[in-house]
Amino acid sequence: MSSSKKRRREPGPAGLHNIQVVDNEVSRVYSKLGRDAYTVAREHRAKLRSEGKYSESEALQYGEIDCAAFSRLLVGLELDSGASFLDIGSGSGKAVHVAASTGTFSKATGVEIVEDLHMMALKAKDEMEKTTITEIHFINDDCFNCEWHATVLFLPITCFTPEMVVCVCEKMKTVQKGCLILCTSTLTPLDDDSLCGATSLKRLSKTRIRYGKGTMEFTVYEKIS
Ligand SMILES: C[S@@+](CC[C@H](N)C(=O)[O-])C[C@H]1O[C@@H](n2cnc3c(N)ncnc32)[C@H](O)[C@@H]1O
Repeated sequence: MSSSKKRRREPGPAGLHNIQVVDNEVSRVYSKLGRDAYTVAREHRAKLRSEGKYSESEALQYGEIDCAAFSRLLVGLELDSGASFLDIGSGSGKAVHVAASTGTFSKATGVEIVEDLHMMALKAKDEMEKTTITEIHFINDDCFNCEWHATVLFLPITCFTPEMVVCVCEKMKTVQKGCLILCTSTLTPLDDDSLCGATSLKRLSKTRIRYGKGTMEFTVYEKIS
């Protein structure tokens, strides 16, 4: 286990209070953006399909964290100070802003390929930065072009195509030992076990929490070699 984290415990009363504050603040900022990320993503995919780019469109399915549930999950990791967070496919940036607002991370970064979603994240960042000392960064690029270097790596892999999951497994070999990986469940032929086996990951926990308009199973792995 990396020295930058302890094992997980349920958040205490202070943590629970913080979760409510984070939820309120992120929801307030996003309600002022005047755009809904699901609509932005849907319009972008429709445009790609109208141009005949069907496989590109398939790779850009959208879903978004529930702020309170995700905040609770992050606080429950009980990380030491100085930890960093990286969201692979950050959409409108909500998960990054939740991570930044928990006070758990010194740096929170999101990588998103769709420019309109990236722009939403930047707009929200202008507001969110007023209430957190966490460094916040957004990168508009293909996540497979970036280094996956963080204490906590968030992989919303459920929306990825099977081809992307193969790339994730390959990329996972470059992730540093001790990194914690938060992974949403995958409906692709590569299930959690093959992801685990292919990439030296140890499964630490599985929890079903609110996500998008329903619930989602989140698995926490640790990179062990
Ligand atoms: C399920 S959404 C997750 C949004 C956010 N992480 C959350 O959970 O709230 C997945 C995001 O990954 C983005 N994406 C898909 N392929 C990508 C790629 N190759 N590089 C960067 N982002 C990508 C999609 O555009 C989409 O916004």
